[in-house]
This record gives sequence, structure tokens and C-alpha cells, in this order.
Amino acid sequence: MSSAKKLFIKTYGCQMNVYDSERMAEAMGAEGYVTTDRPEDADMVLLNTCHIREKASEKLYSDLGRLRPLKNARPDLKIGVAGCVAQAEGAEIIRRMPLVDLVVGPQSYHRLPDMVKSKGAVVDTDFPAEDKFDHLPKRKALRGPTAFLTVQEGCDKFCAFCVVPYTRGAEVSRPPERLIAEARDLVERGVKDITLLGQNVNAYHGGDWTLARLVRELARVDGLERIRYTTSHPNDMEDDLIAAHGDEAKLMPYLHLPVQSGSDRILKAMNRKHTAEQYLRLIERFRTARPDILLTSDFIVAFPGETDEDHRATMDLIREVHYGAAYSFKYSARPGTPAAEKPELAPEIGDARLQELQALITTQQRATQEAMVGREVGVLYEKAGRLENQMVGKSDHLHAVHVEDAAGQVGELVRVRITASSTNSLSGVRLG
Ligand code: SAH
Ligand code: SF4
Ligand code: F3S
Repeated sequence: MSSAKKLFIKTYGCQMNVYDSERMAEAMGAEGYVTTDRPEDADMVLLNTCHIREKASEKLYSDLGRLRPLKNARPDLKIGVAGCVAQAEGAEIIRRMPLVDLVVGPQSYHRLPDMVKSKGAVVDTDFPAEDKFDHLPKRKALRGPTAFLTVQEGCDKFCAFCVVPYTRGAEVSRPPERLIAEARDLVERGVKDITLLGQNVNAYHGGDWTLARLVRELARVDGLERIRYTTSHPNDMEDDLIAAHGDEAKLMPYLHLPVQSGSDRILKAMNRKHTAEQYLRLIERFRTARPDILLTSDFIVAFPGETDEDHRATMDLIREVHYGAAYSFKYSARPGTPAAEKPELAPEIGDARLQELQALITTQQRATQEAMVGREVGVLYEKAGRLENQMVGKSDHLHAVHVEDAAGQVGELVRVRITASSTNSLSGVRLG
């Protein structure tokens, strides 16, 4: 009896890619492939790539180099490149790395099973008229009580530094009925916590549905306990979404709202189309609706032309907001973006600014965690802890929490009193 074929997937980049990898695994599952976490055992290796910064893109080529001995030993091993580097570089990937058999862009991965069957190298980086979601198999049994649900893809914002509008295309929203059906299906499979995904999630428009309406309708799905959404743009924030944070119990007190810079001059050069003050006012409105909301952001330091004064404005903004966490990056020039035409700052400047900014964020992150000690929060158990009688899960504010609980089950949503904060997680005891 021949055993099932094996698929190894490596995912780089954002949560959208995590979601896409799951859907690709399911599409290949319908063809008889099971996933493996060892590339050595695989009949097919799929690298789901990210193009956002130079380092992310170059990783693909070093990983492909490392696959060469495997491919030499087993020439029938299929090697595929998916995701945003696939979209950006297309056939160039095969020219540079002839061991690659197929290149598939993010909007074409429903065609993956057919591509795998074809002989010779194949490239598909279309933005096809058909909706890939219509051609993908239904979601299978999932691991764990949390899931991502892509509701919107693409971006029309064209921030001066960013490749996403080119790799993911224009903004497209999925129809709301499908999303409600997919959410119900996930809940039937044990999911209690759904994060709605979009490159610009709050620009969601499914017919006359906005993101706020989608959140409110999802909140009525029995068995679905928690809703989050990411990533939002400050300019697409609607009043009702802010209001929902105050009156929709299932909408979690957590918001990722990237600002990139605190300097109006740099924000303008980045084409963000808002000022620091407008962003701060927006944050204030969220805090009025939900005082304990935990805020996170993304920052880019050393954007072309950024002065010490601009950087200080970013540091001031961070002090004013006080974040629960943040991702920060040194500017990376990306081919084809307007900012890439401008002269770059010396790398040491970016390194120093990044270090300073990250130190401030770490202080705020610790303080935010410390402030949770003594509070009662909801925790959704995701797995057993490393210690005996311990469960690990995420709090309402998305903190990892270790809970002493001998009888805890994965998928249980429990009330927990936070008793301590350590570097990257909290500890607590189960109540009741
Ligand atoms: N849609 C989201 C972010 C998508 S990319 C938004 O608008 O905020 C995720 C993060 O990567 C960005 O927020 C930005 O901080 C960072 N990033 C994007 N392009 C970059 C570049 N060229 N160099 C450095 N960081 C970049
Ligand atoms: Fe990129 Fe800007 Fe679009 Fe975010 S909003 S994906 S940073 S272009
Ligand atoms: Fe990277 Fe593409 Fe996501 S460039 S961040 S994988 S949208």
C-alpha cells in the first residue's frame, strides 16, 4: 500500500500568509497530501514568502539554497514558491533558482493542485477573475480554539515604502454571507476566538456591510466567544466600530493600529495621509469607548529624510499613547516603491534609533503587563503548560497567561486572577 504524499510548508510574513498556508494545505489535502514538519520527508516543499523588507525576501533564496541537496538526491521532489515574493518576482525566481518547480501568487493558490500535476516549471501570478475562495475546499478540522478568517485582501493606500499594494493588489472584500457561514463552520469545529484579517481590515465593504456590521453579526453567532480584527488603518476607522468596542462584549479590548511615525513631515512623506494629532485623537476615542483597550502599533525608523527631530516626535508619540506592545523596523528600500528613489540614511543611524525606540516599547510593554497583576481576565486555553497542572492561553488583551489548573481543558474559556508578570507572559489562578 502506498503511503500518503507529504507536504512541508514554511510560512514567512504576516498572519494573512498563515491563513493562506492553511488553505493551501487543505487544497493539497484534497489531493491526498498530508502535512509534515520535516522537509526531508516531504514529496513537496512549499515556501510561502514575504516581500515586505529586504531581509524577508532574501531569506527565500538562502532557504532554497539549503534545499538543493534534497532536490539533488530526489529530483522528483516538488519545490514551490508562494506568497508575496512569488507575486513580485514571478519567473525571475526560477531563473535565479532553477530547482524551483512552481511559483504561485497569493491570488492564484486555488490553482495549486493543477500546477503540481503539470510537467516542467510553471508560474501563475495572475489576479484571476474567479474568486479563489470559491475554488478551495471547505475548512477541515482545525487545531485549537482560535482561528484566522480573511475578510479583506489587498490595499489601495500606497504608503511610499510599502510593496503590499503591488503584491496583493487592489482592495477586495469577501461577501458577508460567506464569512458568517465560514465563521459558523469554524465554531462547529471548536473555534471560539476568531481574528478577522485584512491588509486594511477596517476598509472592509461587503455590499453595504462595514466591518462594524460584520463584527456585530458575528457576535450573534452562538459559541463564538471572542472577536478581533487586524490590521487597521487610522483613516478608515468608522464611528460604529469604535462604539462596538464599548458595547459588544465579544469584541476584545485589543487594537493594532499602526502609525509608523510621530512626525507630521515624515507621515506626509510616507503618504500616510493623517497627522500625529489626528492619530492621537482617534486613540482617545477608543479609550473613551473602552478604557482598558490594549493598543499596539508598527513603527518604521530611518525613513529617507528622517531627522533627529522627526525621531524625537515618534518617541514623544509613543510616550503619549503608552503601548502594550509594538513591532518596529528599520526602513528597508523596496524595489518599485516611491520611497526607494530617495537617498537612504546611514545604517548606524537606523540601528541607534531602532534600539532607542525598542527600549521604550519594552518598558511600556512591561508596565502594561505589571498593571494586569491583581486583575480578573478571561483566558482561552490553547494548550497544556510545560509544568504539571498548568494550562496556557491568551487573555482578552492577548497576553499569554500560564494558569495553575489541574482540570483545565484546551478550548475552555475561564476567568483568571492575574498573580504575576514575567518577561513575556503572565501567570494566574483560575477563579470558581
Ligand atoms: N497594512 C498594515 C501593515 C502592513 S506591513 C498597515 O498599514 O499598517 C506591516 C508593517 O511592516 C508595516 O506596518 C510597516 O511598519 C512595516 N513595513 C512595511 N514596509 C516596510 C519597509 N519598506 N521597510 C520597513 N518596514 C516596513
Ligand atoms: Fe502597506 Fe500602507 Fe497598505 Fe499598510 S496601508 S499595506 S503600510 S500600503
Ligand atoms: Fe509580507 Fe505579503 Fe504579508 S509582503 S507582510 S506576506 S502581505
